[in-house]
Amino acid sequence: MFFLCQIVALQHMIPKHKVDEILMTAQIEDVIADFVNIKKSGRQYKGLSPFANEKTPSFYVVPEKQIFKDFSSGKGGNVATFLMEHEHFTFPEALRFLAKRYNIELEEEELSDEQKQAESERESLYIVTEYGQKHFQENLHDSDEGKSIGLGYFKERGFTEETIDKFKLGYAKNDWEYFYKTAIDNGYQEQFLESSGLIKKSPKGDHKYYDGFKGRVIFPIHNLSGRPLGFGARTLLTDKKVPKYLNSPESLIYNKSAVLYGIYFAKGEIIKEDNCYLVEGYTDVIQLYQSGIKNVVSSSGTALTQDQIKLIKRYTNSITLLYDGDAAGIRASFRGIDMILEEGMNVKMVTFPEGEDPDSFAKANDLEDIQSYLNDNAKDFIVTKTSLLLSDTGNDPIKRAGLIKDIVSTIALIPEEISRSVYIKECSTLLDVPEKVLINELNKIRRKNHADKNKGYGAPSEMPPEEAGHDFEGDQQDKKVGLGDNIDDQEKDLLRILLNYGDKNITFLNEAKEEVEVNVAQFIVHEIQRDEMEFSKPEFAILLEKIEAMLGDDNWNISDIINHSDANVSGITAELLASRYELHAWDKHQITVPSEEDKLKRAVEGSIYAFKLKNVAKMIFDNQKEMKTAQESGDIDKAMLLQKEQIILNQIVSSLSKPSGRIIIN
Ligand code: UTP
Ligand code: MN
Repeated sequence: MFFLCQIVALQHMIPKHKVDEILMTAQIEDVIADFVNIKKSGRQYKGLSPFANEKTPSFYVVPEKQIFKDFSSGKGGNVATFLMEHEHFTFPEALRFLAKRYNIELEEEELSDEQKQAESERESLYIVTEYGQKHFQENLHDSDEGKSIGLGYFKERGFTEETIDKFKLGYAKNDWEYFYKTAIDNGYQEQFLESSGLIKKSPKGDHKYYDGFKGRVIFPIHNLSGRPLGFGARTLLTDKKVPKYLNSPESLIYNKSAVLYGIYFAKGEIIKEDNCYLVEGYTDVIQLYQSGIKNVVSSSGTALTQDQIKLIKRYTNSITLLYDGDAAGIRASFRGIDMILEEGMNVKMVTFPEGEDPDSFAKANDLEDIQSYLNDNAKDFIVTKTSLLLSDTGNDPIKRAGLIKDIVSTIALIPEEISRSVYIKECSTLLDVPEKVLINELNKIRRKNHADKNKGYGAPSEMPPEEAGHDFEGDQQDKKVGLGDNIDDQEKDLLRILLNYGDKNITFLNEAKEEVEVNVAQFIVHEIQRDEMEFSKPEFAILLEKIEAMLGDDNWNISDIINHSDANVSGITAELLASRYELHAWDKHQITVPSEEDKLKRAVEGSIYAFKLKNVAKMIFDNQKEMKTAQESGDIDKAMLLQKEQIILNQIVSSLSKPSGRIIIN
């Protein structure tokens, strides 16, 4: 018996030379990029940890060593380890996944009956689900019934051939046993066909099975890497008693609350657009995608879950909800909005005209119109919520008090104090309630939430009502310095000066020792551009762009920036404007009291110096790390090269103009 087991086990093994081939071929940075938003940074890639909740990237991929390291969770390893950790694959599953991705042929492609039986249950479920997808696709394209009914239906909805292929849509014949019999004939097992929902046990108790999705069109649901996990199956009948959609049951591979329909197709676009549209149904996703709005996913009828939000958060920090215009639809979105805010993400909402949903709207309009509708109608959650609730309460003072509480409790969920204070301001304007009152309410709620969560361990930070909006030392501000690469403070300092003093002039000596007057904003922007330096955070970069756009304008007007639709941008602007009296930081050691202009000049020089220094310091830091790696792995050539770079970097440091030294302008 023992002997037999060994033989079975051996048959499953992927031969050693294949394992080697797979691991040699796979490029860890490509594979990981399918799952995590990583950006190149020197010779490595980094991004937010997919295993932990963090704001500062600490997830590294090192192509040279073909490894990843996640400093947040401590996980690390090679490409297979990553898939095992991230996708919960077994080692053979990870290898098979990679073999498929890199077109490496594995002998076990056509499985024998015994092998099918002995596969792990998960893999078996994947296999039957994949089989189901193929079967339904074939029905749709190759059978008369499929062509006339299924394909006819999709065409009528306006789906093109390309779309139908892309989403791998299918059709289940209107026959009690057609799928069941074909699957059994092909050697698939009842057990797995049943737990995937493809077949169901007859209620008569006669141990017979029937087709789970008979007579329906099929929407396969894919995981992040494009493997089908389950199906949504829509009836073609209009009979109200028949459920419109039947969905695959929960199984080892299909966990409804952690899956988003369309994520496989959308993830790249979500990264590019830095926004994710969230819709209600399968057809909304497909129709928008076909129209050219590709950063779209759906929670498929179920209420949005924290897991789904986290999934989106891997790719972007912004979600735009697209909902039917009726009040019930909007109200249903409130819980989702609260959860998104709680994750520290931005949320907007677009509603559609009476009787329209994203599907019908996308079908009836061309891309340009859809895009401008989405852009023009994307409303801040606070505006949507306030106006809807206002229309309910009218002038009833008691109801109004309830409404204020309701909205402030949503604001209280936002982790960053800066964003909270921006929303409090907005809310105060919309409701015509003094900020002080709202802040009091906010503090009360936050205290309560905090006590509920921590049972009295310390108190949350509060906003003092007297200085509404001026105290921004939040409790949650992410001040963690990750691996010597956090240059937030230097960037903020420059932006602070730009916002507060950008329109002022300072004088410098030029090469001929003549005094020249320079505009502060022009000078700083010029310095940053000349060295091709970039700001690390998107909101900082947007701010800088806005300031660049104002250069040369006669009237310097920053109200546009303060009211920027991105809460991160308006938030940081508010913060920086609030701390305008921090010019002294650079002349702490001065004995004489310098003039205002002198102070400003020092602040400008000092900030630019610090910014550049920190940038170069980061390069030195990265370089040293790499040098160590090269030395350890015995790559002497590379270590020598890095050594040379190191010398150059050190020269750059000493050539940077020190603050209060002379700055030569060219
Ligand atoms: P809708 O009723 O809005 O369906 O449900 P839809 O997507 O617009 O479909 P069409 O346009 O009528 O074909 C929204 C989502 O809720 C889930 C499905 O995921 C659907 O896409 N749902 C709905 C179910 O799971 N079961 C149902 O019976 C109805
Ligand atoms: Mn619809």
